[in-house]
Amino acid sequence: LTPQQLIHQLPKAELHVHIEGTFEPELMFAIAKRNQIDIPYQTIEDVKNAYNFHNLQSFLDIYYAGANVLVKQQDFYDLAWAYFEKCQADNVVHTEIFFDPQTHTERGVDFATCFQGLYQASLDAKAKMGITSHWILCFLRHLSEDSAFATLEQALPFKDNIIGVGLDSSEVGNPPAKFERVFAKARAFGFLTVAHAGEEGDPAYVWQALDLLKVNRIDHGVRSAEDDKLMQRLIAEQMPLTVCPLSNLKLKVVQDMGEHNIKTMLHQGVCVTVNSDDPAYFGGYMNDNFVAIEQALALSNDDIKQLAINSFNASFIDDDEKQHWI
Ligand code: ADE
Ligand code: ZN
Repeated sequence: LTPQQLIHQLPKAELHVHIEGTFEPELMFAIAKRNQIDIPYQTIEDVKNAYNFHNLQSFLDIYYAGANVLVKQQDFYDLAWAYFEKCQADNVVHTEIFFDPQTHTERGVDFATCFQGLYQASLDAKAKMGITSHWILCFLRHLSEDSAFATLEQALPFKDNIIGVGLDSSEVGNPPAKFERVFAKARAFGFLTVAHAGEEGDPAYVWQALDLLKVNRIDHGVRSAEDDKLMQRLIAEQMPLTVCPLSNLKLKVVQDMGEHNIKTMLHQGVCVTVNSDDPAYFGGYMNDNFVAIEQALALSNDDIKQLAINSFNASFIDDDEKQHWI
């Protein structure tokens, strides 16, 4: 079996993907047209040229602009359905998907309009493709604590279908501590918690996510490697890091894929997983991410298998379901 064949045929779970980051230009054009909303691009070529990022913020500006064309429940359904089709093609059998309600509610789109469209697509993906999924509500960390509290309130009617809350957007300057009280309230309601930390932010952000937000997983976390004590803790607690190799390359968290630390961390015993983050913007879905690190870092077939096993171990599915896939 070649590494590429192995990557393709292994069942995998995806644990770090933003549904707004799966918005392919073709679908963006189609939805913009039917909603009669202008977008700053004439052609698919224009779009691809705009996707040239030098850091996280330069990406986020374009990512939020793209989401502006999503207005109706059907738009959110179509967005999620297109992503589930990519999962099927990559043999991703389970996925835990972030959505950013504030990106939509701040423009006057109701939480319910957004979530009901997304959720219906996940029901249909289960029924028609056998793909299971969970939804994770992400708070935008560049917005206020009050805005996060209001968003949590809006989520309560849908809480049985939202497994957890997370924290994304501009990391540096918006530390986890800013959302300590919101996360405490979310946990009291029974939500699991995750947070982006240690993507551009230093290891202190990861410590805060663990100690103040009491997260079940760290999203990215690649800068943890700068702090030996932190690494020891991640290994001892088997705290998962949902790593996104192509994202790290495109946002210049690493300058070259050959420098990526995912293989080193895997061999050190960290529970690292492979994920696509914003695949429509970063040039690839799950298997593309696996292939990119396999080629740059010369992963063995055992490494590849361990990464797939980690993806289920780190997931929020029941233990008996985990055993089915591992
Ligand atoms: N939102 C979408 N992708 C993100 C990322 N990689 N980091 C922070 N916020 C995001
Ligand atoms: Zn992310």
